[in-house]
Amino acid sequence: MSSKYQIVKGFRDVLPPESALFWSAEKSAREIFACFGYQEILLPVVEYLELFTRSIGDSTDIVEKEMFIIPDQKDRNLALRPEATASAVRAYIEGLAGKGPQKLFYFGPMFRHERPQKGRYRQFWQIGAEAIGYPGPATDAELLKLLEQYFKSFGLSEIELKLNSLGCAKCRPVYRQNLVEYLKASQSKLCQDCKRRLAQNPLRVLDCKHQDCRTIAQTAPSPLEALCPECSEHFDRLRVYLEMCKLSYTLDPHLVRGLDYYTRTVFEFQARTGLGAQNAVAAGGRYDDLISEMGGPATPAIGFALGVERLLILLEEKIPRETLINRPDIFMVAVGDQAYKFAFKLLFDLRRAGLYAEMAVDEPSRSLRSQLKLADKTRSRLAMIVGDDELKSRSLNVKILESGKELKLDNNSLKAMAGVDWEEMKMHLNSAGFAFVSRDYEKMLIENQNLFKVLKIYLDALENQEG
Ligand code: HAM
Repeated sequence: MSSKYQIVKGFRDVLPPESALFWSAEKSAREIFACFGYQEILLPVVEYLELFTRSIGDSTDIVEKEMFIIPDQKDRNLALRPEATASAVRAYIEGLAGKGPQKLFYFGPMFRHERPQKGRYRQFWQIGAEAIGYPGPATDAELLKLLEQYFKSFGLSEIELKLNSLGCAKCRPVYRQNLVEYLKASQSKLCQDCKRRLAQNPLRVLDCKHQDCRTIAQTAPSPLEALCPECSEHFDRLRVYLEMCKLSYTLDPHLVRGLDYYTRTVFEFQARTGLGAQNAVAAGGRYDDLISEMGGPATPAIGFALGVERLLILLEEKIPRETLINRPDIFMVAVGDQAYKFAFKLLFDLRRAGLYAEMAVDEPSRSLRSQLKLADKTRSRLAMIVGDDELKSRSLNVKILESGKELKLDNNSLKAMAGVDWEEMKMHLNSAGFAFVSRDYEKMLIENQNLFKVLKIYLDALENQEG
C-alpha cells in the first residue's frame, strides 16, 4: 500500500515476525558474552564529531563521506555514531580507566551515509565487544572463538575467518613506504580519491571499492612482510593459539579494514554465500595505540562488531518464517454470554501464570466453529472450550490441537487430574524403578505440562467464582 509518508532512504523497519529473529540474535549474544566474561556498556548514539574524525581517521570513507552530522545550538558539530569503538574508548577513558582490564559489549544502531544495497543500510545494528587492557594474542584468539561459537549457535558454518596483521607504529612506516613505492608505479590508473590517498593515507587505497584500484591492490605488498620482531611474534603466537583451539582461518595479506585505528591483528568473518558484495558479517582487530592517542593511559585493546542485518539475511534462509511467530499455549473458546465473561477473566489468570493465552476478545459473538478456526490459524497448542453448560456442570472440553485429540473432562476427572502433583508422581515412579513407565510418563508430562497448569487454573477460577 502506498503511503503519504515514506521511510528515509537507507533506513529500515524491522517488522514482525523478523523482529523476533532480531532479538534472538541479541539474546544469543548476551548468553555467549556472559560465558566469556563480557559486561554490557550502554553508549549514546550521538557524540561530538571530532571523536570520530580523530579515532576512525579523517581520510577514511566513513569520515570523508558517510557521517550524519548535526550542528547543535552552540554551533558544535555532533554526529550520529557510525560505529561504537570510538565511543567505548571515550567512555573507558572517562569512567573506567584505572579500574583494571575491561571486557565490554554493546548492542545498538549505527549510522553511515553509504549507498544502500543488500546488507548495506544507513542505519544498521551492531553487536560489538571490546577487550580493553589485554595485550596478549590469547585474547585475540578468545575473541575469535567467541564469534565462532556465536555463529555456530545458529548453525551457521559457511562463514570464513580472514586474518592479517597490520603491524605497529614501529613497523607500519616501513610498510607504508613499500606500499607507496608500489602504488606510485600505477598511480595514473588509481581513482581520483586514491591519487589523493596515496600521499595522505596509502593504506586506504587497499580498501577502495573502485575496480581499477582493487586490481592494483591485489598484487600490492603485504604488511606481513614488514612486521617488526614483536609484531611477528604476536601474530605467530596468535596462530598457535588458533591451532590449539581448532579455529580455522585464511590468511588475507591485503586485509587492511576501513578504519585507521588498527594495529597488529585484523580480521573479518565473511559469508561464503548469501550476502553478495557485502559479505563481512563481523569484523575487528587490535587498536593498541588508540586509547593513548585519544588522551587516555597507554592501554592495548581488541574488539569486533557484527552486523545484525547481515546475520539476519543469513538466518532468514535457514530459519522457516512460521517458526518465528509466537504460538499461543492456549486459545480460549467461549460459547455464551456467561462463558465469555468467565473466560475473559480467566485469560488474565492464565497470562499471570506465564502462559501465552489468546481468545477472540473483540468478537464475543463468534461461533464455536469460527473460534476453533482462529485457534488453528494462530497455531495454538491447546484450545479450551468453555460454554455456559460446562460452567454449570463444572466440566471442561480441551482440544490438543496438534494431535486433534479432544478431552471431555467431567468435574470428577477435572478435579482428579488437576489435583495430581505430577512432579511428585514422576519422582515416585522413578524411585520405584518403573524405567519404561517413567520414560513414557516423562514424555507425557513434558508434552502436557501446560494442560495440567491450565486445568488447575480453570478449577481455581470456578471455585473463586463461586466463592
Ligand atoms: P566495521 O567493519 O566498520 O567495523 O563494521 C563491522 C560490521 O558492521 C561489518 O562487518 C558489517 O557486518 C556491519 N556493517 C558495517 N557497515 C554496515 C552498513 N552500512 N550496513 C549494514 N551493516 C554494516 C567497525 O564498526 C569496528 N568498530 C569494529 C571493531 C570493534 N573493531 C574493533 N572493535
